[in-house]
Amino acid sequence: MMEEDMKAILYTKEEVAARIQAMGEQLTRDYQGELPMVVGVLRGSFIFMADLVRCIQTPLELDFVAASSYGSWAVSTGKVEMRLDLEKEIMGRHVLLVEDILDTGRTLSKLVEELKKRHPASLKLCVLLDKPDRRVTEIEADYVGFTVPDEFVVGCGLDFNQKYRQLPYIGILKPSVYE
Ligand code: XMP
Ligand code: MG
Repeated sequence: MMEEDMKAILYTKEEVAARIQAMGEQLTRDYQGELPMVVGVLRGSFIFMADLVRCIQTPLELDFVAASSYGSWAVSTGKVEMRLDLEKEIMGRHVLLVEDILDTGRTLSKLVEELKKRHPASLKLCVLLDKPDRRVTEIEADYVGFTVPDEFVVGCGLDFNQKYRQLPYIGILKPSVYE
C-alpha cells in the first residue's frame, strides 16, 4: 500500500479541497472579466489545475507547458528547458502559471523568463505548495496553497519517480523509499 510509504500526512484530502476552494474564490475575484490564460506546468500540476479551475467562476482559457530539468531532485544541475510550448500567443493576455510546487525555483524562474519575452499583460504564479527553505532563485508565488517544510512530499500530482501522483492527500515520503 502506498500509505505505508508515508512518514506522515501533511494535508488531508479535505484540507486540500478546502484550500483550493478558497484559492479559486480569490482567483474568481482577481480575474473577473479578464479571460485569463491558465497555464499548467506538466505533469505535476495536472491534478491541482483540474481541481483549481473547477473552483474558478469566471471564464478562462487553458493551456499547458512542460519543462525538463536535468539531474535528480536531490542533485539538481540547475539546467531547465521548456519541452512543450503553448499553443496560442499570450501577448496582451493575463497569464496565470500553475505549478505543483515552488522548490528551488529554477523551473518557474526559467518558465517566467521565457513567457515574459512574449509580453503578456500580466503573469502571475499559482502553486499548490511552496518550499521556501530550498530556494536558490529570487522568485515568489502570487498564490500559494500551503507552505511546506524541507521534506520530500508527494500526492495531488506530486511524484517520486512518477509514482504517488494519484494520492488525494499531501504526504511526506519516508526517506527509506528514496535513499
Ligand atoms: P524547482 O522549484 O526546484 O522544482 O525547480 C521543480 C520541480 O521539482 C519537483 N519537486 C518535487 N516533487 N516532491 C515532489 O514530488 C517534492 O518535495 C518536490 N520538490 C521539488 C517538482 O516536480 C517541481 O515541479
Ligand atoms: Mg513538476
